[in-house]
Amino acid sequence: MIKKIAVLGAGQMGSGIAQIGAVSGKDVVLYDIKDEFLERGMRIIRAGLDRSVQKGKMTDTDRAAAIQRIQATTSFSDIGTAKFVIEAVPEDPALKLDIFRKLDALLDRDIVCASNTSSISITRIAGVTKRADRVIGMHFMNPVPVMKLVEIIKGITTSDETLGTTLDLAQQLGKTTVVSRDSAGFIVNRILAPWINEAVYALLEGIATPADIDTAMKLGTNVPMGPLELADFIGLDTMLAILEVLYKDMGDPKYRPCPLLRKYVEAGMLGRKTGNGFYTYPSERSAINK
Ligand code: CAA
Repeated sequence: MIKKIAVLGAGQMGSGIAQIGAVSGKDVVLYDIKDEFLERGMRIIRAGLDRSVQKGKMTDTDRAAAIQRIQATTSFSDIGTAKFVIEAVPEDPALKLDIFRKLDALLDRDIVCASNTSSISITRIAGVTKRADRVIGMHFMNPVPVMKLVEIIKGITTSDETLGTTLDLAQQLGKTTVVSRDSAGFIVNRILAPWINEAVYALLEGIATPADIDTAMKLGTNVPMGPLELADFIGLDTMLAILEVLYKDMGDPKYRPCPLLRKYVEAGMLGRKTGNGFYTYPSERSAINK
């Protein structure tokens, strides 16, 4: 049983992973490059745990103990004390490859390094390390504490032992797993990204308003969020990045990102996190500017 994990990146995904790690009783090293990023991440975690307490799913004592188990740090060497590492930094290939080179130099040979990438090839990430058998994908869904799934991605060089260790860890974190081959978009984004992209094309062609497109899909197919609402929730820049990878890797025009999606990103309208996307979110904008 792994007792201590490290999470790199204290953003929405990294803080969520740190939260479920601490709640499941593990010690967590939460690393980011700036104190302000760690403070924001810890605020997200405290708010999440507060909800659990309010809903009666957790006691105040357990909440305090979970927070206590998280060591927030800007010192990269602190990661070296963990027995399993999960990288959740922004979806930039150059950044991820650089981090995996540094992790490889820091960590004992037997430590598994997982990436929470939503689209970058795990085999490519593994290739920059000397532990290619111990690199794997662990793709969590947003919001991490709520969503039950973790997609596990086995790169060409990932060993069966690493797969087994990772499946065990995901189960200890309370998640249900699926295993995907290392192909662009894995399972979830291979299907989700074209669905969202098609909704943006429908909007571009004036087929219906954003609200009607979302209502049609919500009430017509029983999903919790319509495609445009979900795109705003995930982040329009992230959606564009995922579609770009699918389009490039598959070489198939059916994945071509909708020009309207690109326009929103160029305009800096990235969805909830900027306060506007297909919808406007005045409270999110003011929260970010605080
Ligand atoms: N920590 C702990 N608990 C939390 C929490 C947190 N941070 N946030 C919410 N919860 C709990 C709430 O307390 C609530 O508990 P109860 O069921 O006991 O009441 C429950 O989770 C649901 O929360 P909400 O009341 O906010 O629920 P909602 O009905 O408004 O649903 C939602 C919000 C879960 C986001 C829902 O709209 C949903 O499922 N949307 C779709 C999300 C989705 O598809 N995510 C995947 C995106 S794809 C991805 O992530 C991969 C990628 O690469 C792009």
